[in-house]
Amino acid sequence: MLRGKRIVLGISGGVAAYKAAYLARRLVEHGAELRTVMTVAATRFIGPQTLAAITGTPPVIGLFGVSSVSPHTEMGRWADAVVVAPATASTIARLAHGLSEDALCATVLATTAPVVVAPAMHTEMWEHPATRRNIARLHDDGTLVVGPDEGALAGGDEGPGRLVEPDVIVGALQRLLGPRDLEGRNVLVSAGGTREPIDPVRYIGNRSSGKMGNAIAVTAARRGATVFLVTSAEPPPEDDHIEVVRVETAVEMAETVWARASKCDVAVLAAAVADFRPGDPGAEKLRRADGVPEISLEPTPDILAGVAAMEDRPFLVGFAAETGTVEGALDKARTKGADLVVANDVARRGSGFGTDTNEVTLITPDGEREKWQLLPKHEVADRLWDRVASMLAAKEGSS
Ligand code: CTP
Repeated sequence: MLRGKRIVLGISGGVAAYKAAYLARRLVEHGAELRTVMTVAATRFIGPQTLAAITGTPPVIGLFGVSSVSPHTEMGRWADAVVVAPATASTIARLAHGLSEDALCATVLATTAPVVVAPAMHTEMWEHPATRRNIARLHDDGTLVVGPDEGALAGGDEGPGRLVEPDVIVGALQRLLGPRDLEGRNVLVSAGGTREPIDPVRYIGNRSSGKMGNAIAVTAARRGATVFLVTSAEPPPEDDHIEVVRVETAVEMAETVWARASKCDVAVLAAAVADFRPGDPGAEKLRRADGVPEISLEPTPDILAGVAAMEDRPFLVGFAAETGTVEGALDKARTKGADLVVANDVARRGSGFGTDTNEVTLITPDGEREKWQLLPKHEVADRLWDRVASMLAAKEGSS
């Protein structure tokens, strides 16, 4: 959560500067107040007007001839964090030596707020002893260095030196500035839709993309939790605080969740688990020439019920995928044994499977409901963790 956080984004002159526009946009979407400062070289790669349009304020480019007497100290004092992305080898060298002749480096020198640096350059420059020395100095000064990644570089080259994805920088800032109310907590999250084999090539599945579960896992990690993510979908980008186990079927998901749940403080079961599976999946592909097959189904284990029945069970959050109304979720909240149910109408536009937004209603076992407006999934996740953290604290306070 970066709502209301004041962030200065410093952009230096490399090809990756074009990505700074998307980073700025993501920071604004996360609720940050943003100002930008560019080196003169950066203006050769991205137009100041673009950043002005995204942030609402023109970037600071020089120290002279601007309305402020001292733009660098003003911005340095204003900032809750300063992030330099992309940081070229030359900018890193100046930062490491405290050289402040340009507005960007002067701002970094003039702040006492945390500084994040995201390097981007060619592999030879990144691996040069001078850059290694400068990076080591930045580390010693308490600067958080994020990346670089390995991958495609300018001019068709490849190797270490690529700017990390903007969302990785957003994550680093959230970890620095956001609440750490899940520190020390072990959290289990299930995500995605299970696939139940009919034969070696076909399966019964559903439309779940795993995005809601991923957002819940990533947000928990940013708030300090150690996360165990059991998923049948594409997991989020690698994160030291998230252990991912990939599964396919309801039975595999059940075994993995049940083996870990009692060691966790919280379990959020966001996966769309198949309720039925083919009883006898063929070892060979079904053939058209053999005619319409008869597929008999059998129930899958109810994973949530299994966790709810555990003696040493975690705080349990269930999801309820409904179509039409969320009335059915009231029953689930009463009967399923979860501490909280998050209901959503998966047939509604902008809500549920595959989308980046969700409109949910929170329901407690005693039938209390709270409807939230349509929100980005990462915001639903943040608000959900606000709620779970306070319910957990209340529960622990009363026991
Ligand atoms: N769930 C589960 N195991 C299953 C099916 C569902 O643990 N075999 C969990 C889901 O992860 C979710 C909750 O139960 O947290 C509700 O899932 P949902 O599909 O909405 O409800 P069902 O219980 O399957 O009921 P119905 O299909 O009738 O809506």
